[in-house]
Amino acid sequence: MLDIKYEYAVNKKEKPDMNNLGFGKYYTDHMFMMDWYRDKGFVDAKIIPYAPISFDPAALVLHYAQETFEGLKAYKTKDNRILLFRPDMNAKRFQNSNKRLYMPEVPIEDFIQAINDLVKLDSDWIPTLPNTSLYIRPFMFAYQPKLGVHDADHYKFMVILSPVGSYYKEGLKPVKIYVEDELVRAVKGGTGFAKCGGNYAASILAQIEAEKKGYSQVLWLDGVHHKYVEEVGTMNAMFVIDGKIITAPLEGSVLPGVTRDSIITLLKRKGYTVEERHLSIDELIEASKAHKLTEAFGTGTAAVISPIGTLAYKDEVFFHSDSIGNISQMLYDTLTQIQNGIIEDKFNWTYEVK
Ligand code: COI
Repeated sequence: MLDIKYEYAVNKKEKPDMNNLGFGKYYTDHMFMMDWYRDKGFVDAKIIPYAPISFDPAALVLHYAQETFEGLKAYKTKDNRILLFRPDMNAKRFQNSNKRLYMPEVPIEDFIQAINDLVKLDSDWIPTLPNTSLYIRPFMFAYQPKLGVHDADHYKFMVILSPVGSYYKEGLKPVKIYVEDELVRAVKGGTGFAKCGGNYAASILAQIEAEKKGYSQVLWLDGVHHKYVEEVGTMNAMFVIDGKIITAPLEGSVLPGVTRDSIITLLKRKGYTVEERHLSIDELIEASKAHKLTEAFGTGTAAVISPIGTLAYKDEVFFHSDSIGNISQMLYDTLTQIQNGIIEDKFNWTYEVK
């Protein structure tokens, strides 16, 4: 168990307009910080006022991007309980990401305690309007100043909190996605399965090019054949073809999403067939032309379920839908009702902050 020291914020911030939160624009009054030194391990766990931190210009993370992060959410129920959704999965994935980036692994119980205690302290920041929540961002980075490419003697593990609304400005309205046919996100053996900042840094060029064409994000194809659909910028992608739900398998290049896993479980429980398999862009286009592709949606912590309304490849739109599909809507409702403690959590996914 961590011995967390507290330093309380003297001046509390003004709360933002909870009707107009957007995503990741506001931060709460406190943050968690813990250091790791090669000779001491994890030490100095503390919750302190939210504030900028200083870096040596030679800090390793600024040069070689040794950084990993997580994303999860806290919800306040009608009877004022605070729930997290599957924080153990985030803790485990954080360890897997850190293993790949050769960084120290935070013990699962410490990861959860840091979040639990910080969320509890700043619980007056948890928004309660529909489609809002408190986004939790744990992250770790190499802090030691050194220009040689190597692991570090000093890392920092931090957690910050941000009250959020929908990730996309569209909310639950369908988003437009462009299939990227030149740049790639990940290859097997790389860092695709890890949640590290570098993956996202490398995705920005494609996203901006897509935005210039009027799309919100890109759908990545596999890095070897440029053929099989993998994931969307900040979400896993699922396609309903002939009533079956198809999504890319976890073979090293796709992020093992907590929402992805939960949705697959929910779908199977409701009797749907889910296929985790390679799906080529040609098969997807063919299915759409034959009217067999009936829905497409993304899954992610930030985005929850995001219906895909338009899919375009090589400047041609091959799928279009103006409204959220039945399966996407059902999944959104079921998942958010479990997360908000409105319906029974048969899977034991929710964790109560105490
Ligand atoms: C999340 O869904 O929590 C993510 O980490 C996506 C993010 C890059 C906004």
